[in-house]
Amino acid sequence: MLLSLAASRRVLFLGGKGGVGKTTVATATALAAADAGRRVLLVSTDPAHNLGHIWNRPIGPRAVRLAADLDALEIDPEASVRAHLDEVEGALRQLMPREMGGEIARHMRLSQDAPGMHEAALLERIAATVEQGLRDYDLIVFDTAPSGHTARLMALPELIQAWTEGMLHRQERSGRFDTALANFGRDEGLGDRIVGSAERAPAEGERRVERIRDILHRRRHRFAGLREVLRDAQRAAFVIVLTAERLPVLETVEFEAQLRGSGVQVGGLVVNRRSPGDAGEFLAARRAREEDHLAALAAALPDLPRIELPLQAGEIVGIDALRGFATQLA
Ligand SMILES: Nc1ncnc2c1ncn2[C@@H]1O[C@H](COP(=O)(O)OP(=O)(O)OP(=O)(O)O)[C@@H](O)[C@H]1O
Ligand SMILES: [Mg+2]
Repeated sequence: MLLSLAASRRVLFLGGKGGVGKTTVATATALAAADAGRRVLLVSTDPAHNLGHIWNRPIGPRAVRLAADLDALEIDPEASVRAHLDEVEGALRQLMPREMGGEIARHMRLSQDAPGMHEAALLERIAATVEQGLRDYDLIVFDTAPSGHTARLMALPELIQAWTEGMLHRQERSGRFDTALANFGRDEGLGDRIVGSAERAPAEGERRVERIRDILHRRRHRFAGLREVLRDAQRAAFVIVLTAERLPVLETVEFEAQLRGSGVQVGGLVVNRRSPGDAGEFLAARRAREEDHLAALAAALPDLPRIELPLQAGEIVGIDALRGFATQLA
């Protein structure tokens, strides 16, 4: 299932509860696809950044070559927030009268820690990475952060797109600069003061309206693109990684429902770290417990394809260990 998804889709997301093996499975899958001849980009959206640990080398926000046909990068949420705010600040400085400069700077300082800012910035980077990655690679594999965070992220393109549509609609309906600017300021958190203090000539006003429209259209296009890819089961697949234990199973069932609610279909489940049944009593007893949890999983999500990966004795670090682990993928 994992290998056929990696062979047939353009974007794969690996998600799941903390510590279940998302990074390991994402990396092994990316490596297997690259070994099979696809050009692959492996992307980590996890603030903990453990791609670098697994490869025993630093990996940053720019793609680095890990193996033939395999590149990787780590999206840094902090750096994304800074880049996002710089972009917004630049746009605001162009759009707003010069005397608003101090106000804009103050607003940007506050925005840095505003609720949702990290997610919006991260999503902007993901959208840009998908846009560019689809041009340069055959497959993009995302190693995502633990479930709750990712579920919310997957719902965001819809929300941001709705917000942008609303803005454009209001602007187009009113056709009036004052209304547009007032709404722009309000939704960006600047408040009504912008309108009161904005003094401008009509021609300048029209240019600004055009710019606002351009920015909104570009945003709409980018998020609509991401949303379209996420919802297209032919191009993208979301795979949940879990271990055969009570909490990961419960979380997986919830996570699948949340993703489905956001229009993202789960393509399959990877049950990682399965205990062997023939390596002593202790592990055999564990395996028996795992069977109970897997029965509950199958009852809750009967239609999802599922593969199992065995518990490894050694560390899965470095390319040889990863290749060895990847041979177990199906
Ligand atoms: N099948 C396995 N057998 C043995 N160890 C494994 C297996 N899969 C993963 N591990 C080990 O478990 C640890 C956690 O794995 P990994 O970092 O891939 O999980 P994760 O879901 O990405 O964690 P996080 O939520 O912290 O990002 C690592 O030390 C990894 O080497
Ligand atoms: Mg990880």
